[in-house]
Amino acid sequence: MKNAQIIGCGHYVPENVITNHDLEKMMDTSDEWIQERTGIIERRWITPGEETISGMGYKAAKMALEQANVDPSEVEFIVFASIVGDMGFPGGGCLMQEMLGIPGVPAMDIRNACSGFIYGLAVGDKFIKTGTYKTVLVIGSEIQSLGIDKSTRGRDISVIFADGAGAAVLRATDDPEKGVLTTHLHADGRYAKKLCCEWPSIHHTPAMNPVYEDPDHNFPHMEGRYVFKHAVVRFPEVIMEALNATGYSPKDLDLFIPHQANQRITEAVAARLEIPMEKVMSTIKYYGNTTAASIPMAMSMAVQEGKIKEGSLVCLAAFGAGFTWGSALIRF
Ligand SMILES: CC(C)(COP(=O)(O)OP(=O)(O)OC[C@H]1O[C@@H](n2cnc3c(N)ncnc32)[C@H](O)[C@@H]1OP(=O)(O)O)[C@@H](O)C(=O)NCCC(=O)NCCS
Repeated sequence: MKNAQIIGCGHYVPENVITNHDLEKMMDTSDEWIQERTGIIERRWITPGEETISGMGYKAAKMALEQANVDPSEVEFIVFASIVGDMGFPGGGCLMQEMLGIPGVPAMDIRNACSGFIYGLAVGDKFIKTGTYKTVLVIGSEIQSLGIDKSTRGRDISVIFADGAGAAVLRATDDPEKGVLTTHLHADGRYAKKLCCEWPSIHHTPAMNPVYEDPDHNFPHMEGRYVFKHAVVRFPEVIMEALNATGYSPKDLDLFIPHQANQRITEAVAARLEIPMEKVMSTIKYYGNTTAASIPMAMSMAVQEGKIKEGSLVCLAAFGAGFTWGSALIRF
């Protein structure tokens, strides 16, 4: 059986920096509150009209392909994770495939919020393991800034979420010690409404509903404390699932890359597993929570900063809307 090795990582963020002080001008919040509760000091938001989800995904993918020294024509399968889309349908995967100029190559979209990249990685890994494809591109790309309530009413969410994209190139290897060693996925739809955006839905589209502007339904809703309490339990559980499946323990990890939900969640998880913070990749301070893009962005930055080297044992883990959660253990 083949293994899926990660041979290239890429990321892209819009140029437009939004600081906590910028947010103070839009809503009743403070730099102190945001930093203390989330660890964020700034994030990137697109300039409306200048970026698309698929376009940002393409830029991240291009960097990953260049790093891997892989031509787009070698890509056999695209998995594209994003909560929303540039269009109602089709999804961003097809739009990005057109930009890559590889007609006919299958493109799959995944809408599993913050866990989207790990779900996508698991799918890509399985197609490689079964020998179907040799080269798979997995992307997470998100534009959150256009869909959040930037008034005081939506401040619990809008100070956290941000825009960005990340990508990874997977390539089949015969080396059983290298690549994605294991993946673990979970979901619990009982908590769907604890973190969600109800509209637009097929039942409530702008065409069908005259009160489409209703902010109670049209903007994301999050029961922050509830999400927090579940996250700090599910993260360690699913990380241990990956470690137990492969016979490793937290101390064997060279790097832990959590979904960048909130710095306090990251620190609580690291403390529970006794992973020292120098072995934890954190990008939230400057990039916020970019949902499906946060893990591939952080992984690409870790490669760039030399925190991931040949042979590094890296654990990815995510938790988010659905609820969904998952982990992956990778030997680079
Ligand atoms: C959202 C989150 C930062 C809020 O922090 P918290 O400590 O739970 O704060 P609470 O929601 O209890 O709110 C505390 C107070 O701050 C206020 N508040 C909320 N957002 C605020 C903001 N941006 N600025 C200032 N005050 C704010 C609340 O209105 C509340 O005021 P009150 O005490 O007068 O009622 C935190 O719950 C969290 O990070 N949850 C997990 C979120 C997450 O990870 N989501 C993504 C999953 S992928």
